[in-house]
Amino acid sequence: MARRTAPLETASSRTSAQVRDLAAGLNLLLADFFALYFKTKNFHWHVSGPHFRDYHLLLDQQADQIFATTDILAERVRKLGATTLHSIGHIARLQRVLDNDAEYVTPLDMLAELREDNGQLALRMKEVHDRCAEEDDIATASLLEVWIDEAENRTWYLFEASRPAEAAST
Ligand SMILES: [Fe+2]
Repeated sequence: MARRTAPLETASSRTSAQVRDLAAGLNLLLADFFALYFKTKNFHWHVSGPHFRDYHLLLDQQADQIFATTDILAERVRKLGATTLHSIGHIARLQRVLDNDAEYVTPLDMLAELREDNGQLALRMKEVHDRCAEEDDIATASLLEVWIDEAENRTWYLFEASRPAEAAST
């Protein structure tokens, strides 16, 4: 029965305080990724209006990209020697990306909200990246660099897609 109560450990050369610190930052990001994934899908499902097809497809591509990070991020936490998220409830307790349960949101408000969320996510990833650099965690830093670029790419698409036609031509 000792195995049943044994802590779930993974080999790591870092001190437990370092691992705790890195894992805490990464698990917060993971909760944000799941919350943003679901919000992006929510808007993909509920968007309407003359640009329906464009927005519907754009948000699906963005949701796929966001979801693709989650497994890699969770397993990075496990490789560091810590545990990661266990449930939807765990996500809800940690997420900083706010849910949007409104019955109707205009398409431009959807794009603006996701643009803001992705911009915030990029900033939070940069903060964790700096912590990784301090702790010499090159592997996590390298993953974050790719995901920061992806978040900035999503922000760019959302910004350009929501510009009024006259502003886009100047
Ligand atoms: Fe779909």
